[in-house]
Amino acid sequence: STFVAGLEKLKKGEIEPYGVPLAGELPIDFKDIRIVGSYDVDRAKIGKKLSEVVSQYWCDVNSLSDDPVVSTGVHLGSVKNLPIEAEGLEDSMTLKEAIERLVDEWSKLDPDVIVNTCTTEAVKPFGNKEELLKAIENNDKGRVTAPQVYAYAGTLYAKKRGGAAFVNVIPTYIANDPAFVELAKGNNSCGFGDDGATGGTPFTADVLSHLAQRNRYVKDVAQFNIGGNMDFFALTDEGKNKSKEFTKSSIVKDILGYDAPHYIKPTGYLEPLGDKKFIAIHIEYTSFNGATDELMISGRINDSPALGGLLVDLVRLGKIALNRKEYGTVYPVNA
Ligand SMILES: NC(=O)c1ccc[n+]([C@@H]2O[C@H](COP(=O)([O-])OP(=O)(O)OC[C@H]3O[C@@H](n4cnc5c(N)ncnc54)[C@H](O)[C@@H]3O)[C@@H](O)[C@H]2O)c1
Repeated sequence: STFVAGLEKLKKGEIEPYGVPLAGELPIDFKDIRIVGSYDVDRAKIGKKLSEVVSQYWCDVNSLSDDPVVSTGVHLGSVKNLPIEAEGLEDSMTLKEAIERLVDEWSKLDPDVIVNTCTTEAVKPFGNKEELLKAIENNDKGRVTAPQVYAYAGTLYAKKRGGAAFVNVIPTYIANDPAFVELAKGNNSCGFGDDGATGGTPFTADVLSHLAQRNRYVKDVAQFNIGGNMDFFALTDEGKNKSKEFTKSSIVKDILGYDAPHYIKPTGYLEPLGDKKFIAIHIEYTSFNGATDELMISGRINDSPALGGLLVDLVRLGKIALNRKEYGTVYPVNA
């Protein structure tokens, strides 16, 4: 909703593109981004116009230039244990049929880029495409999750259409799962992901790069986030929290080249904080002549706008990757 609301205001010139990192640097204008479809599994949203859903969160957006009706997605337990009454295509059909339905609907909507922003889930990557195809063939609804279904459907859609990108901003391995990267490569698709780093994590990454540039040796990193929105509530489920931990923790070795001991996790739910999460970072490092320095950073960051701004870039980068036929994944975007 925040992405849709902010994009609408950008298109109308009502706001500056603050929080959009590549704002004016890409050859695609904000006005060229069109939202052709929307999917959810929440009965309170399905069947409504997107504008009706968005206005529940953003009262300053009354109309949308593109206003699709929210269609039914696949559920597969995505919002289990959350205060949401959910339904999914797979309630009345097999996984294969649900995938065919999605591909058929997407072929009519004709998106260049499909974006996955489902609730964080507990998930096991596939690693190879045969395992994924077998689980779908066997209608194994306990093995495949909704984002994995969307990503797979995205590759079939891309094959049928001759190209499509899949942007995954949740911590389910898609762009990092060889099964999906191979499928994307072979089907004119490009996947970005996984997870959208928007709060403490990009800050930690920037500080680690700074320390690496100055040849300071990082001894340890502690970083946590506490928030009060639905996603943080979902993360009170240990399996879901683990998924975030995987995608966040990889930055330490990626940037430093060694795995400094670290604790980087979305750590807790505190309802009064709402969407404005509390982040805290503590980094100890060795400087010249064995001195130990410490950095401590804390802040409050509006969670949804931080991701919404990134999405404005990611959908445009997805389209650019397609134009350039960069199939599979584009690692610098993921990192
Ligand atoms: N700054 C950020 O907000 C941020 C940063 C990085 C990653 N993410 C990730 O983005 C995702 C969304 O975050 P949010 O704060 O918008 O969460 P949210 O709970 O507010 O919204 C998620 C929406 O997805 C819907 N949904 C859940 N499962 C679905 C499915 N299987 N198919 C279709 N729709 C489904 C929910 O009903 C809800 O409308 C989370 O996985 C989160 O980890 C968010």
